[in-house]
Amino acid sequence: MKLTEPAPLAPLRNEQDLVWHQHLVTAEERANQKQQQPVILWFTGLSGAGKSTLAGALEQALFAAGHHTYLLDGDNVRHGLCKDLGFSAAERDENLRRVGEVAKLMLDAGLVVLSAFISPTRAERDAIRASVPEGQFIEIHVATPLAVCEARDPKGLYVSARSGEIANFTGISAPYEAPLAAELTIDTSKSELSQQIDTLMTYLSALDIIKPHHQRG
Ligand code: ADX
Repeated sequence: MKLTEPAPLAPLRNEQDLVWHQHLVTAEERANQKQQQPVILWFTGLSGAGKSTLAGALEQALFAAGHHTYLLDGDNVRHGLCKDLGFSAAERDENLRRVGEVAKLMLDAGLVVLSAFISPTRAERDAIRASVPEGQFIEIHVATPLAVCEARDPKGLYVSARSGEIANFTGISAPYEAPLAAELTIDTSKSELSQQIDTLMTYLSALDIIKPHHQRG
C-alpha cells in the first residue's frame, strides 16, 4: 500500500492559528485518581521476537495488580488507525508517529500504556521518548535473535519474505536499528515468559512506577 496524500477535508490552517486548550482536569489529577504513575512501556524488536506476547502478559499482570492499562499492538492498530499504511520507511515512520501520539494521549489520561511495534528506527523511538516527560518512556528491547524469530515464523511471513513475496520485511529486506540504551533487554529464547514478567515487574517496582501490592482504592 502506498502512503498517499490525504484528501483535504477542510482548508489547511497554519499551526500558529491553533491554540492548545488547557482543560480543567489536569494530567496529574487523572493519574492521582487512578493511584498510579503513568508510563509508556515501549516494546521494540523483530517480527516474531515476542513483543505482543510479553506486552500482553505484562498487561495482564499489571491489570491483576489493579493498574489501569492499555496495550497498543502493531498488528491490531494496522487494522484501524493505520490501515492506510504499508511498510515503506516513510509509512513505518507515519505509523509510529500516530501511535506515539495516541500513546501520549493515553499517558496524559493517566494510563500505563504498553506498546508493541517493530518500530525499526532509532530516530522514531527517540522522538517519542523526547516528547514525553523524563522517565515516562521505558524502552524494552525484545532482542530475540533473527534466526530464532525466523524459525518461529508464527505467521509464515519470513518464508514469504525470503521468497521475495513480501518486500521490505524487517530483518530480511529492511533494516532494524537496535536500541543503544534500552532500559531493559529481553531475549525471549533464553528464559521462560513467567521469569521475563518477573524481571519486568521487579524493574517497574524498583522505579516506584508500580507498587508491589497495588490495590485500587
Ligand atoms: S512497524 O515497522 O511499522 O513498527 P508494526 O509493528 O506496525 O511495524 O507491524 C509489524 C507486523 O506487520 C509484523 O508483526 C507482521 O505481522 C506484519 N508485517 C507485514 N508486512 C511486514 C513487513 N514488510 N515487515 C515487517 N512486518 C510486516
